[in-house]
Amino acid sequence: KHSLKAHAHAHGLMYGSAVRVKDLLTLPAFARLIREQCGIVVPASELKWVALRPSRDRFDFTLADDLLAFAKRNHIKMRGHTLCWHNSVPDWITTAQNRPDTRQLFVDHITTVCRHYAGHLQSWDVVNEAILPKDGQPGGLRKSFWFDQMGPDYIDLAFRTARAADPHALLTYNDYGVEFDDEEDAERRKLVLELLRGMKQRNVPLDAVGIQSHVKAGQPYTFGKGLADYLESIRQMGLQIYLTELDVNEDDLPYDNVERRDKEIAKIYRDYLQVALANPAVKELLTWNISDRFTWLNDGPTHHKKQPNRPQRSLPFDSDFKPKDAF
Ligand code: XIL
Repeated sequence: KHSLKAHAHAHGLMYGSAVRVKDLLTLPAFARLIREQCGIVVPASELKWVALRPSRDRFDFTLADDLLAFAKRNHIKMRGHTLCWHNSVPDWITTAQNRPDTRQLFVDHITTVCRHYAGHLQSWDVVNEAILPKDGQPGGLRKSFWFDQMGPDYIDLAFRTARAADPHALLTYNDYGVEFDDEEDAERRKLVLELLRGMKQRNVPLDAVGIQSHVKAGQPYTFGKGLADYLESIRQMGLQIYLTELDVNEDDLPYDNVERRDKEIAKIYRDYLQVALANPAVKELLTWNISDRFTWLNDGPTHHKKQPNRPQRSLPFDSDFKPKDAF
């Protein structure tokens, strides 16, 4: 039977999805969908610091281990996400009275987590979202907790530590905001490429670049030369490319008609993938969940400003796990 997994495989690609492990464990129909459609999975949050580190001396691997067991049982690969992100720093670190030595804590965390899964993960998003030009730092680096505590070197340190602890996982730099042909994304593309070149020059172990691919419907700009040139620059550096978190935010679409929206959303998927999949360095495509039932775009007010009462239809399957036009 036709599946995204089989279709991708026939074209030398891997298709997969992010999942919330709880949904997988509690909803057999969802587990079935993932089994049928996915060649690879990634836990949406369960490997982030806040989830893994309830306190300084405790690691809670339970949910991510459950996902790995599910993946192994079903011959599905798994990615890790993520060892270093500005958005998932536990309060016990930032507000501690006697703040632990950040560098030591950082190295110890990455070492412990990578060793725990060593040999079992296809790839790791080692550093996530390190670029934010408006913070005004050299190289366009984001002023995160990690940056404030360790300076720009934290990025190299994360990759070297990850490689030492798990020599098998392909190490990935993952970021967003590089997909569209507009000035803001062009600036971000330039900065990511600079970061990657520097890392290569310094012999930092780096295997792949993740392009999150949270794209939007109802925008004036398109996908084209900006994206194509960016992918080609990455390919020429000898790196693989993964589209790691694809979904279509359709909050800006001005009509409520579901058929119309689904057609428009499918068109965005097609337009984006026509450019992205044309580059042979692109080896993986993961959507950020597979069913509208669980899209993070319905989570909070930030991503849902204009249409608070209109659930987003961002993914290839609807909330009853039926395929849509995007599929
Ligand atoms: C999101 C998860 O999907 C949510 O459940 C969570 O509350 C916040 O994080 N870019 C990323 C992902 O790299 O880690 C984010 O995941 C979505 C945006």
